[in-house]
Amino acid sequence: MSKKVSSKTFSQCKNEGKKLTLLTAYDYSTAKYLDESGVDGILVGDSLAMVALGYETTHSVSMEEMKIFTSAVARGVSRAMVIADMPFMSTSISISEGVRNAGELIKAGAQAVKIEGGDDYTVELVERLRTAGISVVSHLGFTPQFLHVLGGYNVQGKSREHTEQILEQAQRLEKAGAFAIVLEMMPEESAEYITRRLSVPTIGIGAGRHCDGQILVSDDVLGKYSDFTPKFSKQYADMRSIISKAAKNYVNDVQSGKFPAKEHVFSLGAEEKDKQ
Ligand code: KIV
Repeated sequence: MSKKVSSKTFSQCKNEGKKLTLLTAYDYSTAKYLDESGVDGILVGDSLAMVALGYETTHSVSMEEMKIFTSAVARGVSRAMVIADMPFMSTSISISEGVRNAGELIKAGAQAVKIEGGDDYTVELVERLRTAGISVVSHLGFTPQFLHVLGGYNVQGKSREHTEQILEQAQRLEKAGAFAIVLEMMPEESAEYITRRLSVPTIGIGAGRHCDGQILVSDDVLGKYSDFTPKFSKQYADMRSIISKAAKNYVNDVQSGKFPAKEHVFSLGAEEKDKQ
């Protein structure tokens, strides 16, 4: 088994120009297969609110739910770094509550937590988490938990001015201890501009080709989530058809008496059978 991926691996990859690969996972088996396929990081993203729990936005997922999914994923992974999303409102009431909640996700099996935003408060929280021994991935650009403040699913960093603002936040978060920065939905020129000015790796999602790594939602990649497909994602499998085809075959087999067959049943021994 190869060595467990750590924040050091992330920084080595950036220095060596080796692209980092991350996907989300929310359950034990998927996490196990993704880990076996060699991804560097597995994010227990709060996107699970939509793709696993059927909520409309990420706002509805709770700390309790995040802990359950994080521990399921962690049990399936041996090499990749498991990163858990800090859900909406789990960090914003107070720094001490944020630290306590982050600690809960680490106890559930994550090696790091991901936090959206880059204002003064979040920078202070990242600093405090570092002193508490908790590794942080920051998340800038489009930040889904700020959907209502941002006024919709809008591309961020479309002007030089805004890109400079995001860069400043990224540099402050890097200084505070974040070991990687997710950049979501930005023009690739802006993401490249930021990537070149940071010593920690950037992980892009809808942020073009020049980030130090890429992350996607596995349900999009596997063709499992069909409510919405983002422009920036790429589908590598059609799980929806595979699942419906298998389920239809099962229904037909049960209705026609083809399943269960002889090899699926338990039988009494000859002596007991005679008594029947
Ligand atoms: O919740 C999520 O899935 C994310 C993305 C960056 C993949 O935050």
